[in-house]
Amino acid sequence: MKDGIQKRTEMKKGRLLAFEGIDGSGKSTQLMLLAERLKREGVPVYTTMEPTASPIGAMIRQVLTGRIKMDPKVIAALFVADRLDHLLNDVDGIRMKVEAGTTVLTDRYYFSSYAYQSVDMPMDWVIQANEESRKILRPTATVFIDVPPKMAIERIVKGRASRELFEEQSRLEAVRERYLEAFERTKDTETILWVDGTRPVDVVAEAVWEKLQAFF
Ligand code: ADP
Ligand code: TYD
Repeated sequence: MKDGIQKRTEMKKGRLLAFEGIDGSGKSTQLMLLAERLKREGVPVYTTMEPTASPIGAMIRQVLTGRIKMDPKVIAALFVADRLDHLLNDVDGIRMKVEAGTTVLTDRYYFSSYAYQSVDMPMDWVIQANEESRKILRPTATVFIDVPPKMAIERIVKGRASRELFEEQSRLEAVRERYLEAFERTKDTETILWVDGTRPVDVVAEAVWEKLQAFF
């Protein structure tokens, strides 16, 4: 007879869990809490984020801080390139990690592109541009931490000295609407777990944990 932890570990192979939400929704906080909990359960976990720390991700960060300016189409293409590198690079590409049995938690994935880049261009274009990433690795589940944009901005202002390109309330209103539209459009092929992020951190964490039980 195998004990519980061994059994659990054997069951958990090749998962990608993506965290999504508008800036300030609390998704990074929830991702870290889930990672700690899974580790305690004996699950091999790797945490990561987009934009990544790669040279492409570094260029994106310069756009987000206003250090360099680019056409929205070029920004969208950079996110696509950064994502493919995130999946495929030989050093820490997440496809190979998932294939090796690690549970990868990513702070943002292609739904971020669907939601943010579709404010400036048609969502079809953005979905099409991300087709290759979707084919390479579709998340087991995408956790959407939902908060009203006003609350998200209040959290950002409280926690940080400066704001980035997309961190205006009206922009975040548009992004939230587009997240919901993207979820509706892809509901036949994607697994979206909606979580009310307005509650205290530990309550949200428990809700995330409960929703994910079906996948472990
Ligand atoms: P995101 O990754 O979505 O931008 P963060 O996890 O970085 O969000 O959280 C943004 C800010 O809000 C941080 O200062 C964080 O401590 C705070 N925060 C996160 N979750 C909550 C919550 N449930 N209630 C109140 N504040 C929160
Ligand atoms: P991030 O550092 O995760 O910001 P936050 O912690 O505030 O959520 O992401 C930086 C910004 O990049 C964020 O405003 C969302 C944006 N973004 C896109 O516009 N498209 C994308 O494909 C990704 C991954 C991020």
